[in-house]
Amino acid sequence: MKKENLEVLIGADRIHERIEELAAQISNDYHGRHVRLVGILKGSWVFLADLIRQLDLEVSVSFLGVASYGRGTKPSGEVKITLDLDDSIEGLDVLIVEDILDTGETFRYLQGVLSGHQPRSLRSVVLLDKPARRIQPVHADYVGFTIPDAFVVGYGLDFAQKYRNLPDVCVLHPDQRKV
Ligand code: IMP
Repeated sequence: MKKENLEVLIGADRIHERIEELAAQISNDYHGRHVRLVGILKGSWVFLADLIRQLDLEVSVSFLGVASYGRGTKPSGEVKITLDLDDSIEGLDVLIVEDILDTGETFRYLQGVLSGHQPRSLRSVVLLDKPARRIQPVHADYVGFTIPDAFVVGYGLDFAQKYRNLPDVCVLHPDQRKV
């Protein structure tokens, strides 16, 4: 993999430190309760795998697959489910686990879909928040890092399905965004 057009924005060590802080906060807020984490595929699974191991709670996990970007970097505004929940979340304390909050279109859609399943509570944790590009008035309950308006890859995030395996969150320079 060519790395010369990638610039580290958040290094792996800093990501892990921040996840410990988020996990402590979440464990405290949900103390004594069972939490159902709903990981949004594909971008969140690396984050979810690290977060879950730091949670001092009884948890279970489901995944929901959504696609919003296709193969490029421009949002289409269209969100579709690519993999549905495998089990009911009715009456559960649900925590959505997302990689990044950008325009907010995906998030707004997810909140609508998941609240329709009547969970007991519905909150969200995102690793990255890019508020500069927000179109929908949404926010996450727990945010790892607020980042500037740049296209990032690594630590689960992709460009055209590549770069998910990078340990750091890196900025992908615009001239590399060709599929
Ligand atoms: P939104 O609907 O615009 O908020 O976009 C949310 C989804 O777009 C995320 O779950 C990501 O899959 C993708 N996305 C947004 N920004 C980036 C980025 O900088 N890098 C990689 N994927 C991104």
